[in-house]
Parts: sequence; structure tokens; C-alpha cells
Amino acid sequence: MAIPWRHCWRWTIGATSTSVLETICGFNGRSATFAASSFRGTGAGTGSGKEGLSSRPVDTTSIGNYILTSRHKSRLLYPTPKPCCSKGIHSDAKLKDPFSLAQKDLNHLYDDIKKELFVSKSELKSLCDYYFDGKGKAFRPMIVVLMARACNIHSNRDGDLLPGQRSIAMISEMIHTASLVHDDVIDGSNKRRGMTTINEVWGERKAILAGDFILSAASMALARIGNNTVVSVLSQVIEDLVRGEFMQLGSKENESERFKHYLEKTFKKTASLIANSCKAVSILVNSDPEVQEIAFQYGRNVGIAFQLVDDVLDFTACASQLGKPSATDLKLGLATGPVLFACQQFPELHAMIMRRFSTTGDVDRAWQYVLESDGVDQTNYLAQSYCREAIRQISLLRPSPERDALIRLTEMVLTRDK
Ligand SMILES: *[C@@H]1O[C@H](CO)[C@@H](O)[C@H](O)[C@H]1NC(C)=O
Ligand SMILES: *[C@@H]1O[C@H](CO)[C@@H](O)[C@H](O)[C@H]1NC(C)=O
Repeated sequence: MAIPWRHCWRWTIGATSTSVLETICGFNGRSATFAASSFRGTGAGTGSGKEGLSSRPVDTTSIGNYILTSRHKSRLLYPTPKPCCSKGIHSDAKLKDPFSLAQKDLNHLYDDIKKELFVSKSELKSLCDYYFDGKGKAFRPMIVVLMARACNIHSNRDGDLLPGQRSIAMISEMIHTASLVHDDVIDGSNKRRGMTTINEVWGERKAILAGDFILSAASMALARIGNNTVVSVLSQVIEDLVRGEFMQLGSKENESERFKHYLEKTFKKTASLIANSCKAVSILVNSDPEVQEIAFQYGRNVGIAFQLVDDVLDFTACASQLGKPSATDLKLGLATGPVLFACQQFPELHAMIMRRFSTTGDVDRAWQYVLESDGVDQTNYLAQSYCREAIRQISLLRPSPERDALIRLTEMVLTRDK
């Protein structure tokens, strides 16, 4: 019964902490390489050249110490990042709000998307326009335009976006939305962003087609950029989305590989889009492979942190507001970070994970176990570690307001509560 991963996957108080981090996050000297080898699957990173920066040592001591000494209860207690040593950097007014800084580049985002989706047939049009109502957060395009400007300035240009970079911001939102439309079909969801989902209004068959249509429009916009490297980098995203969804459908994973599987799924389903979009805008300004790798790694780390926080919020968001968890993931049979960590303290969860919480009472019991465990804290620590790595990466670029906004953004990822 001494299953090794129970010992591996826990934050451990003691000398092993660095190697624990190494195991989970790869935050040691080969951090970026780990990313490359473990999360890229078959060639997601092709074109990134060699791992230019991966041999730089990461400050494992400080990460390790942080884990050792800070058993904080809240993501709000996010430590000041090492690369920006000035005190209180995150509350510093000099660090612009990412949303307002990106705004000027995103004003026409949804209008541009609607032009791409131009379809005369009215029903298809209403389906495709449905989520492009201008009320989305445009989180991905925001990262993309900030990264584009940061890379442009790094490459000795003015910050202004190249036309292809602007297109990539738009394409990232289109791919994201198409994947949401398909996800809602797979999950049978009836609500998104407070709206009734497309599958609920028009039925599953039309929803699948609408998702496909949005993807095809995105592909055409991508082809128009006219750069084969960029086409291949962003096509990888679509492959990753599909593979990630398949990984999530697969239930009975080998227990010792479950956490790795979860992080890999998380990269493919969430982080690949952000990572590869960031990489694509850096390619277009003719950056060195090292800079492309920084852009990719920033996006990868922020993307994984974003999803880890999402997985935590599934347990905590409603719990604090309505006294009831949404626990959507459990209801869908999915074991995310908090459950996987909790399972180390409460092995009873193992059987429930294996049967995908399908027996009556499983969801409630699993939820109780998670709250009694420190699964939520552990998942938050892990998200913090990914954000620290994102900051470390982006700090290698020449300073600019956009670069600093990307640093600030990691804090927003960790502190958001919905
Ligand atoms: C893509 O664009 C970059 C930057 O202009 C250029 O260096 C590269 O050769 C292009 N690649 C292809 C395949 O067109
Ligand atoms: C699970 O995976 C590990 C590592 O790949 C392997 O050593 C072990 O035999 C596997 N266990 C089962 C039950 O398949």
C-alpha cells in the first residue's frame, strides 16, 4: 500500500521540499525543460528552438523557503516576487492595471471577430455571435497584446502592435470561445457567464457546428497572417485542446500518474492556448528563440496557475457566498487539484475518484474531505509557484509598462474570486 506518489506529491516540511517542487513543478534548474518535455507532448513546442534559458538556475531556495515558512491561508498573501525587489511592487501605482493598459488594443476586438464570422444565414450568425457580445473579459487577448508590446519593446521597436499580432489576439479569443461552446456540449452545461448556453438554446448538434464554424473562421484569419511558423504554433493549440479533452474523459488512470496526468491535461486544455499565442506574437516581431521561449513559458505558467485557481474556486467560490459549493467538477466526475491533494490525507477518496463520484453521496462526501484536508491550500501554493515562475520568465525581458502589467496580472490570477 505504500504508494510512492503519496509521498511525492505533498508539500513536505523538511529537506525534501525542493525535490518535491522539482517533482511537481519542475522549479529547479531544468524548469523550462521540464515544461518542454512533460507538457508539450508531441511537439507542441516545435519551433521554439532549443531551450535557450532552461539551464539558468532557478532560485529554488527562495521558493523552497517560501513553501517551508509560509503556511498562509490565502492566495492574497502572495509574496513579493524576487525579480522586482522594490517593496510592495504589486500595490505600486507604477504597475499599471493590465486591463486598462491593454484596452486601447482591444477596443475593436469583438467587432473584428464579428467581421471574421460574417455569415449571411441568420441562425448560424446568431449562434456564432452569441458569446461575442463584448461582455467577455477578453483575458487571453489582453495577455496577448501585452506580451506583443513587451516583446516589441524588447526587440528595440516601439510597442505598437503589428497587424499579425493584433490578429493573434483576436484568434486566441475565437479559439477559446469555440472550445467553450464544445465544452458546454460535452459537459451538458446550461449556463455560462449567466447566459443560457448555445446547446441549451439551439441544441447540441447546432452547438457543435457553431463551434466548428468559429474555429474555421479563426483558421482563415490565421492563414491570412501568412506566416507558416505561426500557423503551426497555433494549430498545435487546437490539437492540444482535443487531446486535453480526451485526457479529461479518461477515468481510470494509474494512481501514481494521476497528478502528472492532471497537470498535463491542464496544460493542454487551458495553458497551451495562452502559451502558444504568446509565442506567436513574439515570433512575428522576429524575436530570438530565447525570447520566444520566455513568451511561451510565461503563458504556460500563467495558464496553469489560472486553471489551478479555477479548480480551487469550484470548491470555495460559492461556499463563501451561498453556503453551497458549486462543485461542478465533482459532479462531472472530475478529480482536480484539491481532490488529488486531499486523497493523500484521505485515501478513502481513491475509490470515489476511480468511479468518478458516481455513487449517491460521493460528491458531498468528497467535498467534505476536500474541505477537511488542506487540498485547497496545497493547490493554491502550487498556483503561486507557477506564478512565481511566470514572473521569473517575464522579468528577463527589457522593462516596459506592458511587461510590468504582465507581472501584475499574475497577482490578479491568484487573487480573483470568481
Ligand atoms: C515568420 O515571421 C518572422 C518574423 O517576420 C520571420 O522571421 C519568419 O521567417 C517567418 N516565418 C515564415 C515561415 O514565414
Ligand atoms: C503505474 O505507473 C507506474 C509508473 O509508470 C508503474 O510503475 C506502475 O506499475 C503502474 N501501476 C499500475 C497498476 O499500472
